[in-house]
Amino acid sequence: MEAEEGEEWEKRMEIEENMRMSTIGSYGGKVRNLLVVCASSSSSSSAAAAAAAAALSKEEDVQTEAEAEAAEEEIMLLWGIQQPTFSKPNAFVSQSSLQLSLDACGRSLSILQSPSSLGTPGVTGAVLWDSGVVLGKFLEHSVDSGMIHLQGKKVVELGSGCGFVGCVAALLGGEVVLTDLPDRLRLLKKNVEHNLYGEIRGSANVHEFIWGDNYSNPEITDPLPDYVIGSDVIYSEGAVTELLETLLELSGPKTTIILAGELRNDAILQYFLELALKDFIIGRVDQTDCHPDYRSQRVVIYVLAKK
Ligand SMILES: C[S@@+](CC[C@H](N)C(=O)[O-])C[C@H]1O[C@@H](n2cnc3c(N)ncnc32)[C@H](O)[C@@H]1O
Repeated sequence: MEAEEGEEWEKRMEIEENMRMSTIGSYGGKVRNLLVVCASSSSSSSAAAAAAAAALSKEEDVQTEAEAEAAEEEIMLLWGIQQPTFSKPNAFVSQSSLQLSLDACGRSLSILQSPSSLGTPGVTGAVLWDSGVVLGKFLEHSVDSGMIHLQGKKVVELGSGCGFVGCVAALLGGEVVLTDLPDRLRLLKKNVEHNLYGEIRGSANVHEFIWGDNYSNPEITDPLPDYVIGSDVIYSEGAVTELLETLLELSGPKTTIILAGELRNDAILQYFLELALKDFIIGRVDQTDCHPDYRSQRVVIYVLAKK
């Protein structure tokens, strides 16, 4: 049994290592490209290699099969290698607190939460999630190391919740539009006003934005953003199509999407990746490129750009 597990592990590591490292969009770091496996890939990863080769074919049904296979393989790798269920959820947040203090960009940010809203069905943005902290600190780390330049760039955040990530992006120089459902905006605005006082490098505005809604808000779409960011926005199967519709609507040739996801539901993430691979090139950020003190086996960061 142990030998079998060992073999399985080695096979997964080999697939992982054979995923081609490349840059995607404006993110300067190298990411593991989900649909491209190196030609030198050995026979044990031949399924993935075949999938990648098939993706190059113009035939739609073959392509669909390759996307489905790549998504399935990615989920197998994530759950096999990162083993998210073995690490503690909410490592960086306390969802029962009314207020959280987090250091970022030389400030101590004070994020107000509404823990009582967690009990309301369908309400998720009233508290901060680990992937928000991981994404905010990843942005800070990437700007500090020159992998991302946010100064003067238009950044749209989807599903901002309490607003930590958007506030960090504005402190890093982004012209940020933080968005969420209409009834989440009060807490979001409070957090933005509370934290972005005095001189800051960028700016922040809060707007209602419902995924998949077919109206164009020029604040959001004109011009199209340089960056679209979101943390823990892939969590409901019902919202995957609307989210992807929105990502497509907001993506121009110069748009880079950065999404952080919590690894709690493999089926939903697989569904998202399978559909997203039709329109986007997707790469996974290595854990070693996340902020050294704010990385988690339960959180994954993807960089996407429209094909
Ligand atoms: C799990 S919370 C994550 C909040 C925040 N990004 C974080 O990491 O702490 C998901 C967020 O997506 C928002 N959301 C869910 N469905 C949405 C939709 N259809 N349109 C716009 N926002 C949506 C929720 O209101 C919520 O703020």
